Order: sequence, then C-alpha cells, then structure tokens
Amino acid sequence: MPAIVLVGAQWGDEGKGKATDLLGSSVDYVVKFNGGNNAGHTVVIDGETYALHLLPSGILTPGVVPVIGNGVVVDLGVLFEEIDALEARGVDTSALVVSANAHLLPPYNRSLDKVVERFLGSRRIGTTGRGVGPTYADKMSRVGLRVQDLFDEKILRQKVEGALVQKNQLLVKVYNRRAVTVDEIVDELMGYADRLRPMVADTSLLLAKAIDEGANVVLEGGQATLLDVDHGTYPFVTSSNPTSGGACTGAGIPPTRIDRVVTVMKAYTTRVGEGPFPTELTNEDGVRLRKDGGEFGTTTGRPRRCGWLDAVVGRFAVRVNGTTDFVLTKLDVLTGWDQVPVCVAYDVDGVRHDEMPMTQTDFHHATPIYEYLEGWDEDISGARSLAELPAAARRYVEAVQELCGAPISAVGVGAGRESIIAVRDLIG
Ligand code: GDP
Ligand code: IMO
Ligand code: MG
Repeated sequence: MPAIVLVGAQWGDEGKGKATDLLGSSVDYVVKFNGGNNAGHTVVIDGETYALHLLPSGILTPGVVPVIGNGVVVDLGVLFEEIDALEARGVDTSALVVSANAHLLPPYNRSLDKVVERFLGSRRIGTTGRGVGPTYADKMSRVGLRVQDLFDEKILRQKVEGALVQKNQLLVKVYNRRAVTVDEIVDELMGYADRLRPMVADTSLLLAKAIDEGANVVLEGGQATLLDVDHGTYPFVTSSNPTSGGACTGAGIPPTRIDRVVTVMKAYTTRVGEGPFPTELTNEDGVRLRKDGGEFGTTTGRPRRCGWLDAVVGRFAVRVNGTTDFVLTKLDVLTGWDQVPVCVAYDVDGVRHDEMPMTQTDFHHATPIYEYLEGWDEDISGARSLAELPAAARRYVEAVQELCGAPISAVGVGAGRESIIAVRDLIG
C-alpha cells in the first residue's frame, strides 16, 4: 500500500489529528506536508488530551516515524518546546525526521505577522500570528532560510544579512518597530543546530525508499481546503496548499504514488478568523453549536464561528482533492436538534448555484438553500457501527455522503480515540 493523503474539507479543525491517530499502528510514516505551528490538533487517548501544533499527529503512535516535510515552515523554539512537553509526558519522539529543505520561521516574521495584522485593521485576515504567512512569502521571494542552512554558518549569516536588508526597512520605517541584528538571529538559530542535526534528512528520498519497500505513508495536511492559498476563500486563507496537490510538493512524493485521499469533514462547519462563511449562525443556534462542540481554537483559544454543514463546500473538497473517502467527525455534537439543516446550494442574488461560485464577490453574496433533515435525541457516543445509530442519524450520514459525492468510511462520535464508527478500512 503506497501513500494516503489526509486533508481537511472545510476551514480547518475538522478533527484531522484524531483521524490520523485513528489510522494507528498500521501506518509506518506520518508526514506533515504544509503549514507550521498555526495548526492545532487535539487528540484524546485514554482520557489524556494532547495538543499538537508543529509535530505530525502520528507522533503519538509508537512505531510510527513522524516526518516534517519540505513544505512545512518550522519555528525551532516551538518545535523543541513541543518535543520536550511530549517527552515529559512519556511520549517517545526520538524517531522524528525533519526535511533539510523545510524553511525556518525566524523571530522577525512572528513580529511582522502580528504588526501587519494590526496595521490592516478592519481588513485583517485574523491570522494565528505565528509568522507563518511572512515565512512562506520569504520562501517565494527567495529570501527564506532553510533547515540545511544551519549546517553552514557562513551561508546562514549571508542569508540572514540578505533578508534583514528588507526586513529591517519594513520593521523600522513602515511598522515603527526596532531593527534586529544579524548576530541575534544567527545566534538564536544556531543555538538549535546541534540538537536538530541528528533529525535532519532528505525526507523525499527517505519516503520514496519507504514506499518502494511497501511502507504505509500518511501525508497529513494542516489547515484545510478552503484555507488553501489557491483554492480557498482568498485572501482569507493560509499561505500554503493544504489540498491534496500540496501533499505532493510538500512531501516530495509524486501524484502517481498516491492512491487514496481521505478528506476529514465535520458534521457541521466552523471557521476561525475573518472571511466569508455562508452557513454561519450568528444567533443562539451558533452559540449552542460552539458550546456543544467545544469550538474554541487549539492554537489561539479564539471562539470558532459555527454553522450548519455546507454540501457545496463538501462537493468542492471532493473535486479539488480527489476524495476517495470521507471521515465525518463530531456527529455526536448534532444530537438534540429537532431538525438539522444542510446547505445543498447557494442563492446568489436570485440565481441558484450548485457549485462554488467563480468569484469571491458572488461567494460573499451566497445565502444557503437548506434541506432540513430529521434530528435525533439519543446519545450516540457509544455507537460503533452504523446499525447502532438512530435511524435519523444514519439518514444524516447517508444524505451527507450523497450530497457531497464520496463515501463516508468512518464517523466520529466523540473525542476519544475509541469513539469512532469504522465503516470500511482506510488502509488496504
Ligand atoms: P484538526 O485541527 O483538524 O486536527 O482538529 P482540532 O483538533 O483543531 O479540532 C477538532 C476537535 O474536535 C478536537 O478537540 C478533537 O478532540 C475533537 N473531536 C474530533 N473528533 C471528534 C468527534 O467525532 N466527536 C467529538 N465530540 N469531538 C471530536
Ligand atoms: P488546523 O490544522 C483553523 C486560519 C487563521 C486565519 C487564516 C490565516 O488546526 O485545522 P495563518 O496564521 O495561517 O496565516 O492564518 O487561516 N487558520 C486556521 N484555522 N485551523 C487551522 O489549522 C488554521 N490555520 C490557520 O485563523 O483565518
Ligand atoms: Mg485545529
């Protein structure tokens, strides 16, 4: 079995961490292929809660090799804090491998992310403020710093000097911050070099060999389809490609090696930060969903905006990612409603749209056309097969599958590792 891609269908926080964890010990490698510590994955194992940001979720499964791919931006301070925190809880992180081509997230980009947002005022994106956007911008502008630069201090110094020519102008003259010195940046980054060195590898080569040998490789996306810088609700997106195509570039694995695309979709919708969200509930129903679903950000603690499931988004995710399987999460959160609306199409200024509108202006004008499905009251958290679900909950799963156009292979009914209905194997 070659590689499986696992991505989010909506605006993030679908439960990708739990879904990766679910694949468990039949997986040999879990590769994070995009993003940085803007991600936040909560995984609950035996009642213990783990919050992961930069590390791939596979790190919690003994025997799995966790890999940080070339497409990731790495804040080294955060990386080692996260490693130390997990080690202190008895998680063995020694198998972690980091790509030599991954980009380093330097401290000045954290400052810039925050200060740019402040200057944008009402036009802000609502970023996580972790410096992720500016670091991807540096990568594309060819003034980025890479993991491998730590192994040649002279080169690192030259690159930092080059980057600071622009960054200090921005920091001082535009944003009224203090300038940073080459020495302070180089010293901070070099302070991690010795500890990082044994973890660094050519991860594209490592994974190619592993796949040749029949290993199971999971490519785990941070963020999600509608936060994709190309396919999402631009400019209210993250600065990487969390869709399945990004898995290839972000891990160095060709599309011909990928044979399954698992798309994780929440049974309703949430969004953190600014940007359009057609099914958003700004009334007490939204407050109820947030409370029932515990919808507060894993990374920033911000309350997540909540709304009903949007099947137009679901179909879009299937099309853009090539979804072979859905994992439908948090079905248990929908327990207790008389009716559960699902958005089946949009009304855009009087015209029905069954697909995502072509322009952002139209998307901003989209109002949902709902189909109202029957609700259920029974506690479903103990169900371990579709047959154990109340008929209305089963019909909800079937309707979502039909409306979105891909089979649902697992259904989440609680936060714990065991709280899952496995419909068909995701591996094999
Ligand atoms: P990710 O960023 O996609 O990994 O998702 P997050 O971890 O940010 O958010 C998902 C949240 O929902 C986490 O707190 C999970 O523990 C929780 N969760 C995942 N699946 C389920 C589920 O099926 N039911 C419930 N009630 N919670 C779930
Ligand atoms: P996981 O992996 C939800 C959102 C931010 C903001 C936009 C840009 O946990 O699903 P950034 O800091 O990336 O430049 O912010 O993207 N965002 C997320 N929203 N879950 C995430 O990750 C997110 N990562 C970024 O809120 O709107
Ligand atoms: Mg999250």
